Amino acid sequence: MIRLDDAPVHEFLPDDALSDQIPDLADAHRRLLDGEGAGSDMLGWRDLLLNPDDALIEDIEATAAHLRRDADVLLCLGIGGSYLGARAVIDALTPYFPSPDASSPGSEAADADDDVDGRSTDPSRPPEILFAGHHTSGRYLRELLDRLEGTSVYVNVISKSGTTLETALAFRFVRQWMEDRFADASDRIIITTDPETGALNALHAERNYKKYVIPRDVGGRFSVLTPVGLLPIAAAGIDIRSLFYGAVSMCESLSRREPVASMDALRYAGIRALLLEQGYDLEVLAVFEPALRGVGSWWQQLFGESEGKDNTGLFPSVVQYTTDLHSLGQYMQDGQRTMMETFLMAEDDGGDLDIPASEDNLDDLNYVAGTSLSDVTRGAYEGTLRAHTDGGVPSITLWMDRIDAESVGALLYFFEHAVAVSGYLIGVHPFNQPGVEDYKREMYRRLGRDD
Ligand code: PA5
Repeated sequence: MIRLDDAPVHEFLPDDALSDQIPDLADAHRRLLDGEGAGSDMLGWRDLLLNPDDALIEDIEATAAHLRRDADVLLCLGIGGSYLGARAVIDALTPYFPSPDASSPGSEAADADDDVDGRSTDPSRPPEILFAGHHTSGRYLRELLDRLEGTSVYVNVISKSGTTLETALAFRFVRQWMEDRFADASDRIIITTDPETGALNALHAERNYKKYVIPRDVGGRFSVLTPVGLLPIAAAGIDIRSLFYGAVSMCESLSRREPVASMDALRYAGIRALLLEQGYDLEVLAVFEPALRGVGSWWQQLFGESEGKDNTGLFPSVVQYTTDLHSLGQYMQDGQRTMMETFLMAEDDGGDLDIPASEDNLDDLNYVAGTSLSDVTRGAYEGTLRAHTDGGVPSITLWMDRIDAESVGALLYFFEHAVAVSGYLIGVHPFNQPGVEDYKREMYRRLGRDD
């Protein structure tokens, strides 16, 4: 379901590099499967796919159906792994421009099938999903709360530790705002956090909020397929079963031990490690479909936090073509030759908009008449790949069949497995993030928190 085309990269690697690497790759893969590598107590992201909890998925679906009936807006508070996965999947799988009628229980379309209580009986209208708590902008929060006035708001605060400053502070403002406006504020707040510890559990005990648990053995950046991601994604109207089981089938197929050389997630990890050895320090993930940019931001965190330690790892960076070809294209073609490029493409990108012929051809575009915008995207991809390869950028392509829930689920696990194997290959602990803790310590000290 996710296919790697690595042909263009071979000219950048020494002969036999890939075949010589197979024993190391097989060993890194085996250590992951057998739980023998660094951080083997943090493999819950695999376990939850190997032993699916359908009752949990059902519970999340029921909460999401309730939100779709009662909420105009689901406001998700979280940062890093506590929001990037949800945002990635929602951006990939929901319309660019949702119809205004489709997202408001109070709209005319909703009124048409309201039941006797005045509540919509149609569970298919998703609330608008908004995010906060992922930075410290006071202006953003003020404008957000102003914009929410008069709407039916529910809140999902997501923090494994419960102590992350950005999220906790946003929640302090939002909680007060909710309590000032809704008599049933406690029923409108859902927390997603550690099973027992942290400030959110204290609030849960006091206010009796609905709670979902982030398993202890799942790190933030690997948590998209736990309630962290699944609740907002389901609320957005996405079929979380297809998403989840897409990941399950990728997990099952990558849980085979052999043949290593034909498992694309392993080859992806292997090629990256070889290029790193050759002095390529940076990986650019290039998407052509704007809806996939959020997947790139999620990938950026997954790879950056998992690999960037002990003074090694490729620096991950996402670009969106063709837009960014008009800003970074020059650098990609002619700048320092230190980056590799991974194109993330969909065989069916859903963009089959036929280009009409024009009688006068004043814009000189009749040469593409009769093709579609998907054909233009394909031409742009093929041309960019050729030009960048010729310009000295080792490039590979990951192909999804289409951008649907099942394929996105498969892609999420593909990257999770690849980064774990890649971490073992380059000799780092893929599941900790000591550098993030360093910045937090310094920030807290300056703000006066005593530890
Ligand atoms: O991947 C990670 O572990 C981090 O990005 C965390 O998700 C992020 O720092 C937020 O942490 P928390 O969920 O504890 O608020």
